[in-house]
Amino acid sequence: MNDTLHRQPKRLADYQPPCFTIRTIDLTFELAATATRVTSILRFKRNMPGNMVLDGQQLILESITLNGETLTAGQYELTADSLTLSNAPDEGELEIVTLINPAQNTALEGLYLADGVYCTQCEAEGFRRITYYPDRPDVLAIFSTTIITDNHALPFLLSNGNKISEQTLSDGRRVVRWEDPFPKPAYLFALVAGDFDCLSDNFVTASGRSVLLECYVQKGDLPRTEFAMASLKRAMRWDETRFGLEYDLDRYMVVAVDFFNMGAMENKGLNVFNSKFVLADAQSATDLDYFNIESIIGHEYFHNWTGNRVTCRDWFQLSLKEGLTVFRDQEFSADMGSPTLNRIDAVKVMRTAQFAEDASPMAHPIRPEQVIEMNNFYTVTVYDKGAEVIRMLQTILGKAGFSAGLKLYLQRHDGQAVTCDDFVQAMQDASGIDLTQFRRWYNQSGTPELTVKQQYDAANQQLTLDISQFTPASAEQAEKLPLLIPVRIELLYQDGTPARAELLLLSEQQQQFKFDQIPQQPLVVWLEDFSAPVKLHTSYQTTDLLMIASSASNGLARWDAMQQYWSLLIAEAIKQQQTPVLSAELIAVFRGWLLQPLADLALTAELLTLPDFDTLAGQYHEIPVAALLQCLTLLQQQIAKSLQADFAACYQQITRESYQYSEQAVAKRALKRRCLGYLALTTEGENWVAQHYQQADNMTDRLAALQSAQAAALPSAAQLLEQFAQQYHANVQVMDKYSNLVAVTLSDDVFSKMQQVTERSWFSWKNPNRIRALYSAFSQRNPQQFHRADGKGYQLLADVVSKLDPVNPQLAARLLTPLLSWRRYDKARQQQLIAMLSALLAQPGLSDDVFEKVSKSLP
Ligand code: TRP
Ligand code: ZN
Repeated sequence: MNDTLHRQPKRLADYQPPCFTIRTIDLTFELAATATRVTSILRFKRNMPGNMVLDGQQLILESITLNGETLTAGQYELTADSLTLSNAPDEGELEIVTLINPAQNTALEGLYLADGVYCTQCEAEGFRRITYYPDRPDVLAIFSTTIITDNHALPFLLSNGNKISEQTLSDGRRVVRWEDPFPKPAYLFALVAGDFDCLSDNFVTASGRSVLLECYVQKGDLPRTEFAMASLKRAMRWDETRFGLEYDLDRYMVVAVDFFNMGAMENKGLNVFNSKFVLADAQSATDLDYFNIESIIGHEYFHNWTGNRVTCRDWFQLSLKEGLTVFRDQEFSADMGSPTLNRIDAVKVMRTAQFAEDASPMAHPIRPEQVIEMNNFYTVTVYDKGAEVIRMLQTILGKAGFSAGLKLYLQRHDGQAVTCDDFVQAMQDASGIDLTQFRRWYNQSGTPELTVKQQYDAANQQLTLDISQFTPASAEQAEKLPLLIPVRIELLYQDGTPARAELLLLSEQQQQFKFDQIPQQPLVVWLEDFSAPVKLHTSYQTTDLLMIASSASNGLARWDAMQQYWSLLIAEAIKQQQTPVLSAELIAVFRGWLLQPLADLALTAELLTLPDFDTLAGQYHEIPVAALLQCLTLLQQQIAKSLQADFAACYQQITRESYQYSEQAVAKRALKRRCLGYLALTTEGENWVAQHYQQADNMTDRLAALQSAQAAALPSAAQLLEQFAQQYHANVQVMDKYSNLVAVTLSDDVFSKMQQVTERSWFSWKNPNRIRALYSAFSQRNPQQFHRADGKGYQLLADVVSKLDPVNPQLAARLLTPLLSWRRYDKARQQQLIAMLSALLAQPGLSDDVFEKVSKSLP
């Protein structure tokens, strides 16, 4: 591979429409493990002057025929990733036959065979590993697919759209043909062949059409499929009632596979899911698993309109479909459960992962400007900040205005491949609100910082608020312009009663807002509901924050005040080089919540939870690793000790019930779990944990006991864990939870224990779920060992990345992320990380995925 030629980034600014469009593509797959033959018949038409360039990678070309005439080597040009015809006519038919090797495909992109199942993953650029084709989202064609096999172990042969025919040939081979009437880009193509159990159901749309729903899962897993099916029906109904959007085909299929690089994929009419996000029952799944299933089922379903019917012009526009669809799935989850809890989760993702990405060498706007490997841009910035940008639009336009904008966008662009600008334009046209400045959110990276001040003039009963905004330079972009930022505020009187709520639109670098008829000095709740993805600098005292935490109308604001409270306390302690001390005031507030929890028990649990290491770390330019970890540990121990009886009382006050996944039952378990976490830190810790474990009749509670044991480093933890592993060794999804637990072992044993996990019979270096369960858990949830001063934690991850890069580069590059931010640590850690990254960069045959990230990171 020639680095300088092959690794050139593609730029948004260089976008050119395709020279040829494809009207129809007729695919035939003759399935065979190591040599699947793919015959593709394309009807093409010229769109612009220029060559016909077809993408293709790792293909063996058997033949190419143009309008019935077989072409010879001199009539086309073949490179490692393209096939070019320079004299193609303006219109015609091309037949291309290629051979591919699904069994050897461990990258899980294109067509792969794993666990006896043939499965495709074409987003972003996987279709080019199936056949030569203009593999870009702005080429929309009508697909038909014929699947042929002589293998009787593959009773189900699936593809997009409607099943047209099914027959057995005289030689015993089976042939199934599918047609998808909706033109689509190649990234939405899917094929699955395997043996499954199938849960069938039916959905009648608002307009009265009946849709067949099918969920295909591994044999024996049918009982664990019901929740996913019910979630799908809820999602279909919700999109009708909230946005007036109905499903458009007669059939909707979901297939669960265990080998998958991401969560799930929205292929037209044939979603492919990571089995982790389909299968659930009380004995193997936690409340969080249930939550994720409903949200991801919703996400992929919602893509049918935002992504499939209206798709992206090019991959730089990825947030057009992902930011919008994450926003939609968040709204769905909020409507199905607690809006406050959902908002807390979203804000946690922003404050930990997304702010960290903005501060990292991989910083990019939600619409990136240049990309080497597209797989590297399925990021928290594109997805989650993208969703926050959509949410701000809804805040500025109002719910009705936003819905009208979405409706106009979908009507105007149905069947098209469009840009983020087209989306904002539709929002502007539908609402009449000028969004010129708002568009900067699409091309400006980095986390904006707001500094806020308040002044009260008692004589005139006037309140003056000053807000200034500043976005620090990010790795790839020095100049920043002022953004349009919606700042929600609430004013509280001194006794905590709400005085007034306002939406401020900050557009200048510095701006003043005045309010009259304010009879007394109020306390301002800034950025209520996290109304913009920004950092906030306030002059709050800890007492102000406790007041907001007790009194604000908005649940997220209350939780946020507690988060700020702890950050402030810890920052002060670190500055003074002292250990943090709990105030009597804090103890009283906590005691109040424990003895009389809020109506929302889940919010109470969150109010009692300290920010995690990554959230705190986000506030520092150079992260004081040891001091932060020490403060967190000490504070948790102090809280546990001071309030032991109150935690016990609260725990006991919550009655046990048989398992049910409902908002109220989840909230009860969450609060109980929070109490248990603190009780585990007391001298009675062993007893509390053992009792919770033994009484558990579901996975959520069982895991809560094990997590508390691990977090408190109880001597009994190892033994409990082994008991758990023995009980569940036959269920690989539960064993992933075991891996999670092993990876958060606080002691130095973590290295040998993780090594032992990789030696278990169910572990596989080819299965992303197995690897993530161990190594992502380690790097993201065990800061103590990951950030060890001797570098052993970093080295463990670097070794795994190096080992995985040739197997599955997409996964390797994702695991690598935490190592990129070396600039945030002290000199010694910087040197270790630079050495490891340099070694990776020198690895022969390094993938584009890992190359792009490492080369951006190194000085
Ligand atoms: N579009 C998918 C989603 O719903 C993302 C996705 C699934 C993906 N599998 C992938 C992206 C593989 C890149 C590669 O969010
Ligand atoms: Zn998506």
